[in-house]
Amino acid sequence: MKVTVIGAGYVGLVQSAGLAHLGHTVRVGESNPERLSLLRAAKLPIYEPGLEELFARALAHDLISLHADNHEAVRGADVIFLALPTPPDGDGRADLSILEAAVRDLAPSLESSAILAVKSTVPVGTNALLRRILDETGCSASVVSNPEFLSEGSAVEDFLKAERIVIGADLAADADVLRRLYGGLAATIVVTDPVSAELTKYAANAYLATRLTFFNAVSNLAEEVGADVTDVLRAVGLDRRIGPHFMRPGPGYGGSCFPKDTSALLSIAGDVGYSFPLLESVISTNDLQRDRIVERISSEFDGDLTGVKIAVWGLAFKAGTDDIRDSPAVAIGQALARRGATVEAWDPEALFADFIAAEGPLEAVDDADLLLVATEWPEFLRIDLAEVAKRMAGDMVFDARNLLDPDAVRTAGLLYRCLGRPKA
Ligand code: UDX
Repeated sequence: MKVTVIGAGYVGLVQSAGLAHLGHTVRVGESNPERLSLLRAAKLPIYEPGLEELFARALAHDLISLHADNHEAVRGADVIFLALPTPPDGDGRADLSILEAAVRDLAPSLESSAILAVKSTVPVGTNALLRRILDETGCSASVVSNPEFLSEGSAVEDFLKAERIVIGADLAADADVLRRLYGGLAATIVVTDPVSAELTKYAANAYLATRLTFFNAVSNLAEEVGADVTDVLRAVGLDRRIGPHFMRPGPGYGGSCFPKDTSALLSIAGDVGYSFPLLESVISTNDLQRDRIVERISSEFDGDLTGVKIAVWGLAFKAGTDDIRDSPAVAIGQALARRGATVEAWDPEALFADFIAAEGPLEAVDDADLLLVATEWPEFLRIDLAEVAKRMAGDMVFDARNLLDPDAVRTAGLLYRCLGRPKA
């Protein structure tokens, strides 16, 4: 099938490379000239395991072409995916101006049989809004909702081994076209109306955010009552109705999706007069989790971090990505710096200009009073802890991801602090 993807951001790139892998011919429309020249050289502007290889292979086989002009990119396309940014506005709502402008601009160039598929995460009712825009311009192309469920760090696998594909369409014929497009995947396909598809995306992300926030609270409580959260969660997760996933204690959720989508869902609820105190509480409880870690670290120095050097391992909002958007690691490092600490950080992929950038993980701990493990990179497990102990001025490791082996840390002569395991 002939497919166009408008927007070569994170979602657009995975979608383009994934569909090309399934044998479709994909035209990518991207307005940023630097990004385009990078992509033309088969280089990606983001770090995502396996994506560069997939993209380069598609490019080499002429299954992907890159276009600065969106009108040229949509020519002859059966399906046009809109993977444009919908950043939060001042009130936490998704800002649709980029998406709306693109649809208005493209309308005259669309074939009447074309299907516009909305990949961007958009508020409930956006498909209807785009429909109205097309009607105003006299364009009879269709609009369908096809939300993405990609997780950074495993996006290629999430595409190729998708568990479900959600298609929100008013016309069965449009849903059938998308069904055929994804025919090479083993995923369960859920066909519904556009509003339900739009809500599905928010419901999934808000549920996951709620779930992990709940278990972080359980972890905090374990700390207070002297229980071991690792055992508690293992036992809780063995209940088939609950399951073992998405309950890892940590500094709270971050990234480009959960913070944005939980706020957006709250706005969606507010707009229709539905009170959602559960979600309000999830958002504020998640913020408190970062504060709690800052307080715990600060209390190790009697509340005074002036002149204290803190080494931070990990800047990305989670392992497997270079993304620092709303990263708890960055927020906690910044809060520690505001309290007078000197922060030196190292991350295998991510950078953050405000902290001293260490050459490597061992250089980061040179003369440090405390080492904070802020992202769960498996690389950290391979670092020689005896060498860490030798290089540090202090002797405390604060593991905000419960990543390290407590015994290994102690054997190296260091003190170990973590989440929800008072005895660890
Ligand atoms: C998420 C959704 O998983 C994905 O389906 C959606 O389309 C986009 O948002 P992503 O933001 O890439 O993906 O990361 P995810 O792995 O879901 O983690 C989100 C946050 O939760 C991260 O900050 C992560 O560190 C945190 N988390 C996750 C935990 O603290 N504990 C867990 O057990 C799992």
